[in-house]
Amino acid sequence: MTNELQSLRELNQLLNERLSMKAKQLAAWTAVDQHVHPEYRVIGIGSGSTVPYVVERIVSQGAEANKNRVFIPTGFQSKELIVSSGLTLGDVDQYPTIDITLDGADEVDTQLNCIKGGGACHLREKVLAEAATTFILVADYRKNVEYLGTNFKAGVPIEVVPFAYAKVLQNLHQVLNCPKASLRMAVAKAGQVVTDNGNFIIDAPFESERMKEPYTIMAQIKMLTGVVEVGLFCHMARAAYFGNQDGSVTIKW
Ligand code: 5RP
Repeated sequence: MTNELQSLRELNQLLNERLSMKAKQLAAWTAVDQHVHPEYRVIGIGSGSTVPYVVERIVSQGAEANKNRVFIPTGFQSKELIVSSGLTLGDVDQYPTIDITLDGADEVDTQLNCIKGGGACHLREKVLAEAATTFILVADYRKNVEYLGTNFKAGVPIEVVPFAYAKVLQNLHQVLNCPKASLRMAVAKAGQVVTDNGNFIIDAPFESERMKEPYTIMAQIKMLTGVVEVGLFCHMARAAYFGNQDGSVTIKW
């Protein structure tokens, strides 16, 4: 490849990244404006690169609006985000009922089912999604699909206890007919990814036809002993906000 072509590709990639960041911000800001009402006291904060824009917008509501609020994180990243933004940190132990949780997604279908866990946080994310009276998704245009697995090809993230990972992998290959299921490795193959809960992650790419029935897949995987949680969130979100390249926002609800 010529240097010129290489530079053009890099420029294009940079432009796409920039557009995607703007789209994430747009989605997050719009969702906060629509759903984070002044009376809300307990707010769940998800994980990923879209969620900082959620926090940014909440902070912009002002110190007065946030002084009696407590924010519950879904993992190490969101904990740091809450603390560094000067917001009050809480725990789901103390607040098992949450007014609203806002979180990113890897992909969302037309029924508001979604894949989560690209960042290996889906166990805590699902706990906060379920504990919340209102669960809202925020994402850029690339995540807005008709069927799960359209753009997100890495597969369904599955958190497993380390003791059972080989058995669960074998079950996925042989019982659930998912031959490409594999243990998630850290960057540069520096060992396996370990979650905030000390568990491993398996990524299971199912055929597209099967991804049209996410609830069935989720239930089948959950039956495997050793599985802690599956990154398929079915019928949990009240709405999903997608920022688009042209500056508009698509809302699914
Ligand atoms: C982490 C997640 C994230 O919410 C998901 O991966 C989306 O991340 P991003 O906002 O960076 O696209 O599920 O486990």
